[in-house]
Amino acid sequence: IQTDIPSLKDTVPFTLGAAFYRGATLGEHAKLINKHYDSVTPGNALKWDATEPAEGVYTFAEGDALVDFATDNDLQFRGHTLVWHSQTPAWVFEGATKAILLQRIENHIRAVMGRYKGRIGTWDVVNEVIDENQPDGLRRSPWFNIAGLDYIRTAFRVAREVDPDATLVFNDYNTEFPRKREAMFKVVKQLRQEGVPIDAVGHQLHVNIEQAPASWIEDSILRFAQLGVEQQVTELDVSVYTDFVNSYTTVPAAVLAEQGHRYKEIFDVFRRQAAKLSSVTIWGVADDATWLSSFPITRLNPPLPFDDELQAKPAFWGIADPS
Ligand code: XIL
Repeated sequence: IQTDIPSLKDTVPFTLGAAFYRGATLGEHAKLINKHYDSVTPGNALKWDATEPAEGVYTFAEGDALVDFATDNDLQFRGHTLVWHSQTPAWVFEGATKAILLQRIENHIRAVMGRYKGRIGTWDVVNEVIDENQPDGLRRSPWFNIAGLDYIRTAFRVAREVDPDATLVFNDYNTEFPRKREAMFKVVKQLRQEGVPIDAVGHQLHVNIEQAPASWIEDSILRFAQLGVEQQVTELDVSVYTDFVNSYTTVPAAVLAEQGHRYKEIFDVFRRQAAKLSSVTIWGVADDATWLSSFPITRLNPPLPFDDELQAKPAFWGIADPS
């Protein structure tokens, strides 16, 4: 890896993190992580399908390896994620009455959070539960269809009980879009008024080179600040596409430059609002391992600060050089 470039974490006034994966890429990525980041989030290893593939059967090898890596390297660790509609095994909903489902959530959170108590300081307790097209703003997932809002209440209550010191996050995507933002604002406000222990709102921030406008990102941070809630950016990346179907065989240099400008305008917002943001996590380390190479279609899509040879790109300089 390059040694003659600044450490990204030293260029920003908040905790800077990256999502990472075990396996082939970790060896070299570990060097980048140690130079440039304060914090890590596992891309998949702590999701329900990875940790409890069958009821009461827990598989922690991958999670343990990643948490050990973070502990050994003095990195903060974000746990991702306890309750989500995706990457959750079918058994969780099978034969589930409301009481059974809430018990399964409780068992799962006690086992997973309990295992890493004291070593994982922040947890995405619920992920992507908002649907701005529903009158009540809540996604019609199996969780909701079986248990209503109580699945969210139970998840946070149990999470708080298991580790009272952990920061508990309500995480979602498109929070920079006004309708989604307002739907989430209402739900978080109501739950907090009830006493549900939501410490922080997580803005995933999967954006592209055009959308959403940086001013919307800033508006959203200012809006949630009205709730007095901690805020984190949890999954930032910048797709080089503005639609779901295009694909390049080689990404033009001009597009990578545009991506660099886009990172800069977004980090300008973060720096301006640093008092309201406790951390920013980028969803990956380098372009050789990004979910966007297969989502929403398989295509070349390098969205991160380092290219697939682990070299700093314009995106890196957009973050590191605010002048
Ligand atoms: C993605 C992972 O990065 C991929 O490896 C996996 O195949 C699918 O999930 N929002 C989230 C993350 O909250 O968990 C997703 O991660 C990306 C979108």
